[in-house]
Amino acid sequence: MVTADTLAAAFYELCTRRRDVRAEFTGEPVDDAALHRVLAAAHAAPSVGLSQPWDFVLVRDRAVRERFREHVRVERDTFARDLSGERAATFSRIKIEGILESTLSVVVTYDPDRGSPAVLGRHAIADAGLYSVCLAIQNLWLAATAEGLGVGWVSFYREDVVRELLGIPAHVRPVAWLCLGPVTHLQHTPDLERHGWRERLPLEAVVHEERYPAAAARRTASAERSTSSSVVDQFDTDTRT
Ligand SMILES: Cc1cc2nc3c(=O)[nH]c(=O)nc-3n(C[C@H](O)[C@H](O)[C@H](O)COP(=O)(O)O)c2cc1C
Repeated sequence: MVTADTLAAAFYELCTRRRDVRAEFTGEPVDDAALHRVLAAAHAAPSVGLSQPWDFVLVRDRAVRERFREHVRVERDTFARDLSGERAATFSRIKIEGILESTLSVVVTYDPDRGSPAVLGRHAIADAGLYSVCLAIQNLWLAATAEGLGVGWVSFYREDVVRELLGIPAHVRPVAWLCLGPVTHLQHTPDLERHGWRERLPLEAVVHEERYPAAAARRTASAERSTSSSVVDQFDTDTRT
């Protein structure tokens, strides 16, 4: 029997072990039963009004993945064009996808019509449907990590291109293109940190008692403007003043 202690320890370990994977995929087959468990975990996610507005499209066809990868390459260039100096140099060293190196892709979609028109809990916050899909993605990500698999989220795409590629109707949103498969290992530190793009903020910078502080709002704005290495410095400066 799993005790509360071991369950909690395993869960927290999973949360820190989970990584966004690009370079560590082996391309080896994924065990069907493991894939089924991972998808079942995703499908067990909470959803607004129990709408379960997600679908999971498994893309194994290499030709389709090659077409998607070419599109991602173009979008990467589009993003890179707006960068200069140190940001451009740093970004040029960062791998942003493992579409062809991974075993398969799982494209997760959002259908706002599922369970509508009376989606319980969505009347005031239309995005609640989208939040539900993101929770399914997180379940998938953690379950894959527990199975020893890697997941890499790719968002360098235009939704219409993915719709056209996979026959997704116009009202359905492709929320995530996930690369999935066995990996050599998981990095201890996120790629973006290792490459000096941005650092994880200290927990104290994002936890507040009772009210959202004006100082944090300033910090968020300045962090968005600053380079990765100065985000934590900025937090230190703000808390000293
Ligand atoms: C919505 C979303 C979109 C993302 N898109 C990309 C992407 O296009 N390419 C990429 O390399 N990583 C992408 N990531 C991964 C993040 O860069 C990664 O989660 C972050 O750097 C923290 O690293 P970790 O997931 O290993 O902890 C995305 C993550 C999220 C949540």
